Amino acid sequence: MSDKRAPAHGSAKASAHALAPRSDFPLLAADPRLVYLDSAATSQKPQRVLDAITAYYTHGNANPHRGAYALSATATQMYHDARARIARFLGVADVDTLLFTRGTTESLNLLATAWGQSNVRAGDNIVVTRLEHHANFVPWQQLARAKGAEFRIVELDAAGAVDLALFAKAVDARTKVVAFGHVSNALGTVNPVAELVRIARAAGKALVVCDGAQAVPHLRVGIDALGVDAYAFSGHKMGGPMGLGGVVVRREILEAMPPYQFGGDMIEWVNDQDTTWNVLPHKYEAGTPNVEGAVGLAAACDYLDTLGMDRVRAHEVALTAEAMRALAAIPGVTLHGTARAEDRSGVVSFSVADVHPHDVATALDSEGVCVRAGHHCAQPLMRGLGVQSTVRASFWVYSTTEDVARLAAAVGAVRERFAVA
Ligand code: ALA
Repeated sequence: MSDKRAPAHGSAKASAHALAPRSDFPLLAADPRLVYLDSAATSQKPQRVLDAITAYYTHGNANPHRGAYALSATATQMYHDARARIARFLGVADVDTLLFTRGTTESLNLLATAWGQSNVRAGDNIVVTRLEHHANFVPWQQLARAKGAEFRIVELDAAGAVDLALFAKAVDARTKVVAFGHVSNALGTVNPVAELVRIARAAGKALVVCDGAQAVPHLRVGIDALGVDAYAFSGHKMGGPMGLGGVVVRREILEAMPPYQFGGDMIEWVNDQDTTWNVLPHKYEAGTPNVEGAVGLAAACDYLDTLGMDRVRAHEVALTAEAMRALAAIPGVTLHGTARAEDRSGVVSFSVADVHPHDVATALDSEGVCVRAGHHCAQPLMRGLGVQSTVRASFWVYSTTEDVARLAAAVGAVRERFAVA
């Protein structure tokens, strides 16, 4: 699972320049020396997104769906248009099946609560994989505990990918939920979603849930075409503001499922002893909506479409290959995860001998290089890798080969500073 050898790069070639100019990102433009390699945690924001948010507050701010006055209608229209724009970016035809949430974590909790509580029973089982982020692990684990269902974890193969044979064995007629990530946040592994869906469908009638938080910013994702029942994502990892993401769920599931939260906007009629629910998507969006977030994320979709998601993908594979090559050449560095850059999104997780990852990250920070160190909200995966934590560098559209070179130089300096043999 861990590989100290140089990876097989295939035809990936590193590009010298960023796909997107640094000047598009005010935070990066303000500090030319900053090497931001933590985009898997959150992306930096393009000016275009900041402008869209400012325009909303300058010209359109009111509470949508509530006022009879023109300004409220403007806010309602902006919110509606943003949903349609984001649905188009995600390859979703039925726009009202895109529910806005605070992000992937809330999306997955929504499913585990609203769908899980009314559909999972004692004797059923729930299947996840060892690659999962806690947000796609703990809600299902706790649901299984509450219901007396079995919680099954599919182990990884020697390369660090989900073992498809074990996955096929784990899913059966009593499986109520199959939940897996599209891309691992900790290792960058891109899962074969179509194959996982095929296996799950062949085995039974489970709800097939995909965590797309680390996929949507990096790959061309067409959710309708994936054939899953539910697909969750976060806006802030793809250039949008924090606090807005969503989940796309098949319409018949949403029609049948009870609401997740109660309050304003999600009701049709409130009688003294009972209440009926609003139509989709409002049934699942209680309270004042995050219009700022939706408008900002729609602008991020415009920005990404201008760059082209296929070019984003090619750029990241090239940088990943370059980073794997450069880091693997440093004695004492161990790379974690699959060996081929093409099987990953823009993520490289590594260890530097027995230097604690937090010490590595602190030393890198003193060189202006921002990386994440820790368990990456994936403790079950860390146990599988046999480590407590790793250092993670992650790339996006503004990352460059110069960034990779600065990372490698800083890691080389860590090695000398900590006298790694
Ligand atoms: N889930 C985010 C990450 O992997 C925060 O960094």
